[in-house]
Amino acid sequence: MTALRDHLREQTAQAHQRLDDFVASMRPFEVDAGYRAYLTAMLGAHRHYGEVLDRASTWAHLPPTSHSLRSDLLADLGDGLSPPSKPLPFPKPGEGLEETWASAYVIEGSAVGARFIIKQVQKSNLSHGSTFLSHLAEDSFQRWPKFVEALNGSGCDVDKSVSVAKNVFGIVYDIFSAVAEDLDLPRSSK
Ligand code: HEM
Repeated sequence: MTALRDHLREQTAQAHQRLDDFVASMRPFEVDAGYRAYLTAMLGAHRHYGEVLDRASTWAHLPPTSHSLRSDLLADLGDGLSPPSKPLPFPKPGEGLEETWASAYVIEGSAVGARFIIKQVQKSNLSHGSTFLSHLAEDSFQRWPKFVEALNGSGCDVDKSVSVAKNVFGIVYDIFSAVAEDLDLPRSSK
């Protein structure tokens, strides 16, 4: 039987690619303004999904990370913090089984991508710090296999979980595009 994580990975691949393309267009790991926008958008995502992330951590018997990740993001942003001027118009995530696990899958899974991204950031000459990405990437080696095991044993309905995860990718996309618009960011086309 195909595990829930494999369903999620396969069926959200397109949504991940769309997000990845948008983020890449901000040149976040090459230019300061793009990196600032990346950190600001990730702060928005972590503020929106912090509670869900911590609930899933508890269910997966993992230490909660949302508080320390938000502190890392604020430290990296330093004086460059540019919060979105408008409140984000997204409904608060629900507390049910699929809402929790599938939302946490998207946010927790971004740590896997961070393992690749941190290498680019370390090679570049960006003026903001990289504490958030370093912690995310380092922790992922311990956390991600345990999270995936718990996710696969969670008893979630596959279709409901896929639908929640696609929706979360869409919201994270909207957070990035709201930040890019707010900062009036020049974007490159690939
Ligand atoms: C430029 C931005 C990004 C890049 C380059 C990127 C890249 C990657 C890469 C290389 C992986 C590992 C894929 C694999 O092992 O086959 C990954 C996994 C993942 N990323 Fe991203 N990512 C980006 C942004 C994001 C964001 C913003 C989120 C959500 C907040 C996200 C969510 C995920 C998830 C959920 C996975 C795990 C998929 C799985 O293995 O089940 N990514 N990403």
